[in-house]
Amino acid sequence: MRFRNAVVFVTGGAGFIGSAVIRHLLDDTQACVVNIDKLTYAANLDSIPQAAGNARYRFAQVDIGDAAALRALFEQHRPHYVMNLAAESHVDRSIDGPAQFIETNIVGTFTLLQEALRHFRALDVPAQARFRFHHISTDEVYGSLGPQGLFTETTPYAPNSPYSASKASSDHLVRAWRETYGLPTIVTNCSNNYGPYHFPEKLIPHIIIKALAGEPLPVYGDGRQVRDWLYVEDHARALALAVERGTVGETYNIGGRSECANLHVVTTICRLIDQIEPSASGPREHLITFVADRPGHDRRYAIDPGKIERELGWSAAETFDTGLAKTVRWYLSNRHWWQAILEQGYKAERVGLAPQAEAELRARVHAFKA
Ligand code: NAD
Ligand code: TYD
Repeated sequence: MRFRNAVVFVTGGAGFIGSAVIRHLLDDTQACVVNIDKLTYAANLDSIPQAAGNARYRFAQVDIGDAAALRALFEQHRPHYVMNLAAESHVDRSIDGPAQFIETNIVGTFTLLQEALRHFRALDVPAQARFRFHHISTDEVYGSLGPQGLFTETTPYAPNSPYSASKASSDHLVRAWRETYGLPTIVTNCSNNYGPYHFPEKLIPHIIIKALAGEPLPVYGDGRQVRDWLYVEDHARALALAVERGTVGETYNIGGRSECANLHVVTTICRLIDQIEPSASGPREHLITFVADRPGHDRRYAIDPGKIERELGWSAAETFDTGLAKTVRWYLSNRHWWQAILEQGYKAERVGLAPQAEAELRARVHAFKA
């Protein structure tokens, strides 16, 4: 049985992907899981229904930037694996307020690395041979692709948003802690995830809840930006394989081979909802509204997942069609989950535009000077 006698720290385990990892570890392995989460706006402990009364699950409300609290957790639980998913994760929020992204994604990862290293150094040799620090990152560190080509593990880093820059920085720290201090690290960079328990600020759940409310469906710019969609449960399986069987020092790119333009994503969601719950006011596609583009908007992301497929035997089980249909059905039959988020004050309003006026002003000044 996988993860026998293993203690796994999952940071950010109350978030979208972290909770999927914990559900997978509890359902499909024997791992004992310690969920370390600060509980920001994006967290939801209801996303782990199997946690209730489970002797293999512990929760600690701790900030990964809090060295003393982390040290106490390492001493108490003596983990075999650390999976770092705690992060500020929304590009639009990073445009309005980058400071928290620097704090959590860079300083927090640094603090976690330091405490993991302290723990690692105190282990005996067999325990050191087993220990892994797995950092979960994004394909956004590679920047934006043109119409052709795929991101591979050797694509140079070229982040364009405060979010992706903070993730790129944390990836570099992880690399340095391996090269300099010998911490056994693995990095994975994945494409856009979607699926159940996704906070409704991100495109797919955002469009689903707006479409159900009969509200305008905001499509940024021309809607032709391409993302490579990965079903979150496929990702969770890939992460467990990477931490358990991945080679120390390696990076694995994880993607679903499911490229799709945003406008197509939005129209497909409309059609799927219309089939299940037709609206008296007609097809929901009529709600599509083109709105101002995101500043610094990356045009296309696409991942070559060949390495993890070949080396770890992973492949995505869901196509985008099957995964999206499942996701829409989940949001329709789990309204209590996302309605609670709305009731707690999340307004589903546009964010990430504030500095655009400044950017436009700068561009105008630049053009004037030239
Ligand atoms: P999320 O925003 O849904 O969840 C993040 C979780 O981290 C939340 O539960 C939050 O409370 C917690 N957290 C935030 N700051 C913390 C801190 N200082 N200390 C402890 N916990 C903290 O994010 P997600 O979508 O689940 O993403 C998880 C990881 O995967 C992130 O590192 C993200 O960069 C990466 N990633 C996500 C995607 C995606 O499509 N969602 C794609 C590529 C990479
Ligand atoms: P998002 O889910 O924020 O993920 P990321 O920026 O990390 O790729 O956005 C996915 C794409 O959808 C991105 O190109 C921005 C676009 N988008 C919209 O067009 N409308 C929206 O309301 C949102 C939230 C995103």
